[in-house]
Amino acid sequence: MGNIFKKLGIGLVVGGVLVGIAHSQELPSSFQLLFFIVSLIGALVFILLDARPLSTMNGGKSLFAVIAFWILMVTVCVAGASLLPQFNPEDERAKIDKLLGKERAASQKGKAEELIARAKALDEQVKALEERLKGLGGGQVATASQASHAGDKPSSAPGATAGGGDFMKVGEEQWQLQECYNCHKLRGEGGKKRGPELDNIGSLLTVDEIQQKIADPKSFMAEGYEKEWQKGIMPNKFKDLMDPKEMQALAAWLGTFKNASVNTPKPIKKN
Ligand code: HEC
Repeated sequence: MGNIFKKLGIGLVVGGVLVGIAHSQELPSSFQLLFFIVSLIGALVFILLDARPLSTMNGGKSLFAVIAFWILMVTVCVAGASLLPQFNPEDERAKIDKLLGKERAASQKGKAEELIARAKALDEQVKALEERLKGLGGGQVATASQASHAGDKPSSAPGATAGGGDFMKVGEEQWQLQECYNCHKLRGEGGKKRGPELDNIGSLLTVDEIQQKIADPKSFMAEGYEKEWQKGIMPNKFKDLMDPKEMQALAAWLGTFKNASVNTPKPIKKN
């Protein structure tokens, strides 16, 4: 009995150390959990080594015992695995595509491809317009057609990127891409880690100040978050990951959040 507790204790300590190391390397919490579970399974195996040997079986009984044991193990493994957090590889791929898409667009080739795609989209729009004009005739129809195009495909219209709606969309997209939601709750979602809720940030900081905070997390400190600010929990990497326009869009989008019923801590200016 004493042996069981000793081995369990060792398993817990090893698990704790592994979690500590994983945490210090900023591995996702699901990995940390996995390390912990694996060390507990290790401890269980060592505990089982002490178990009394089963009495010898033969014939049908032994076959039945093997099958029963196999079913038990499969059930435990499947049930256990389904309790762990599940990843959807498609989600991750979409994110990677988006990040790479930016790089591609930046290259000359990407730019050319984008222009060709845009020209094609425009060409299609013109053709569709001509089609409708031919069929029905009249300026009234043309406006209707334009309106429907603007409705379902705003990004194919020239100059649409300058529009307010798309700018805000870029901001919201950056919130998702840069995974701010990991640390910050917004609209009641996210914020599993140590960051303040941001639903009222638009009442407390100007858009420029929000941008400053993102580019240089040390520039402002959320009241009551001295320790986190000191430790630099909010990563100082976003100015390398976003281009200025994207960061501006993210700041502008966050600036629209003015929900006074949420207790967003007061930002204190630090140099
Ligand atoms: C790893 C966790 C983490 C990530 C990721 C993170 N933050 Fe933060 N953020 C914090 C913490 C902790 C604070 C509070 C301490 C401080 O002010 O530095 C904070 C503070 C803030 C504040 C000030 C809030 C206030 O009330 O003063 C803003 C604004 C902010 N973050 C925006 C963002 C945006 C935008 C992103 C994504 C680009 C982001 N954060 C990503 C942890 C994080």
